[in-house]
Amino acid sequence: AVQPKPLLVREESEIDADPGKRKVTVFFGTQTGTAEGFAKDDYAVDDDQYEEKLKKETLAFFMLATYGDGEPTDNAARFYKWFTEQKEKGAWLQQLTFAVFGLGNRQYEHFNKIGKMVDEQLAEQGANRLIAVGLGDDDQCIEDDFTAWRELLWPELDKILKDEDDSATVSTPYTAAVPEYRVVIHDSTVVLENKHVSLANGLATIDIHHPCRANVAVQRELHTSESVRSCIHLEFDISGIGLMYETGDHVGVFAENCDETIEEAGKLLAQPLDLIFTLHADKEDGTPLGSSLAPPFPGPCTLRTALACYADLLTPPKKSALVALASHASDPSEADKLRFLSSPAGKDEYSQWVVGRQRSLLEVMAEFPSAKPPLGVFFAAIAPHLQPRYYSISSSPRFSPTRIHVTCALVYGPSPTGRIHRGVCSTWMKRAVPLEKSTTCSWAPIFVRQSSFKLPADSSIPIVMVGPGTGLAPFRGFLQERLALKESGVLLGPAILFFGCRNRRMDFIYEDELKNFVEQGSLSELVVAFSREGPTKEYVQHKMLEKAAYIWDLISKPGYLYVCGDAKGMARDVHRTLHTIIQEQGSLGSTTAESMVKNLQMEGRYLRDVW
Ligand code: 2AM
Repeated sequence: AVQPKPLLVREESEIDADPGKRKVTVFFGTQTGTAEGFAKDDYAVDDDQYEEKLKKETLAFFMLATYGDGEPTDNAARFYKWFTEQKEKGAWLQQLTFAVFGLGNRQYEHFNKIGKMVDEQLAEQGANRLIAVGLGDDDQCIEDDFTAWRELLWPELDKILKDEDDSATVSTPYTAAVPEYRVVIHDSTVVLENKHVSLANGLATIDIHHPCRANVAVQRELHTSESVRSCIHLEFDISGIGLMYETGDHVGVFAENCDETIEEAGKLLAQPLDLIFTLHADKEDGTPLGSSLAPPFPGPCTLRTALACYADLLTPPKKSALVALASHASDPSEADKLRFLSSPAGKDEYSQWVVGRQRSLLEVMAEFPSAKPPLGVFFAAIAPHLQPRYYSISSSPRFSPTRIHVTCALVYGPSPTGRIHRGVCSTWMKRAVPLEKSTTCSWAPIFVRQSSFKLPADSSIPIVMVGPGTGLAPFRGFLQERLALKESGVLLGPAILFFGCRNRRMDFIYEDELKNFVEQGSLSELVVAFSREGPTKEYVQHKMLEKAAYIWDLISKPGYLYVCGDAKGMARDVHRTLHTIIQEQGSLGSTTAESMVKNLQMEGRYLRDVW
């Protein structure tokens, strides 16, 4: 299978690049680039041999995101495992001065678990904590949290650098200059670069940095016409491109913005979409423009392609983006307002008017029509790089070796300002043209992200699966896998699936397939909760309570419990229900039941794939 980029990326500071001066190293564990974005305000990328390098460091900052079920990001996973499992870390830690900034979201159960854990362990093992761990909260304004943390950091950094070198000047407080690329415009005779030149078809490594091109082979709607919502079944053709996956893995998809979004952006930038340009990170004489800018995408390409593939246009803009917009607003009152919104005095207005109202970057730009940033500023400082979207793969390679199946709910609806919000990737999937229907089918750069959400190695072990809505996705893969195993003569243990949807006539996705899995013996029991059929809501956890004795029996055998779907509502409620079931069925006290749930998690028998 594909190896995810294994190491924590290490960054080295610019300020101390001179020989003889003290180096500061920033390690960051990032999924979407937020941590990297903060780090890049200050630092440039280096290599990724964390273990050897960390041992040599005397001053290091860690920017660590927590996601999903309290997990580290992919590029920090190995570091985290190494770091937390190695009990005695050795004398080198005594030499290390460190500070940790965590990136998380308070709405989730394990808020900033990774940042807190690394901070605690470093201090416990004798490293010197420069300032308290910063707890970035994405639910509020994580940019402010970072700024506040950095303000605390500078004076402390000053102190230690001055202690070491009396001649050191006091560092100037951090002020960000608006970064910018040099833009070269081409005429229409130039040869266009293919989007995503790094496409890795045929290469050994396929990962987020080297995605491969995959055609859409199949695309169909899973809801019936009675449903007002939409859920797409999509199959990527991976035959002959060297991409492997395992049941339970995730697929990362680089989708494109839809035409409406691109056209609106072109108008707001006052540039034609067929403009052909290249971004350069250096001056004409070859000297670098900024400390850490690298061209965000290859050129020459059209503005249409750049806006389609590389620009996040629908997320509320960061404060630094508002500052950049302000510096290119010809109307002084607009510039003032933009600066106010990004200033400490405008904190509340920013959080209400921008974040609270979920105002997209394009909506904000539309409110400040005199702000017409040049493309070199727009792509460097205003529109973040469009990130891949992750989906739990809904097929098994034993059943479907040349296809990766995705089950995707369409994100579509009015935002608080009344704009219709269309999710980037789900809209792309909704509109995708499959090879079944046209030889000029849709395609996307994709890659596989490994997960630990796996069936037990011994197929006779009982499993309990809980997956309402698109939480069903990985279990469809599990059931395909079990069916293939059964057909090859493997003995299967019992498997029960709790699925939930609104109404059997509308969104009972894969109904026939699920019934077939029962008939064929891949699934022993299918339990469905319909939330909008009767007078009261029926959810998967209510059905679990009805089957409490059986669940207890399966778990005690010992069996595995899997939960997939929405983290904030469903997974949290199911977690509480599991606690209740264990407490009641085992006649245990609340604390004992709690530690039993923890044990299940530690043993890897209670697994969650939640978002
Ligand atoms: P609802 O939309 O009627 O509230 C898949 O989305 C199914 O999960 C739907 O039937 C949805 O019901 C249900 N659901 C919503 N919130 C849930 C929760 N907290 N726990 C379990 N199921 C939930």
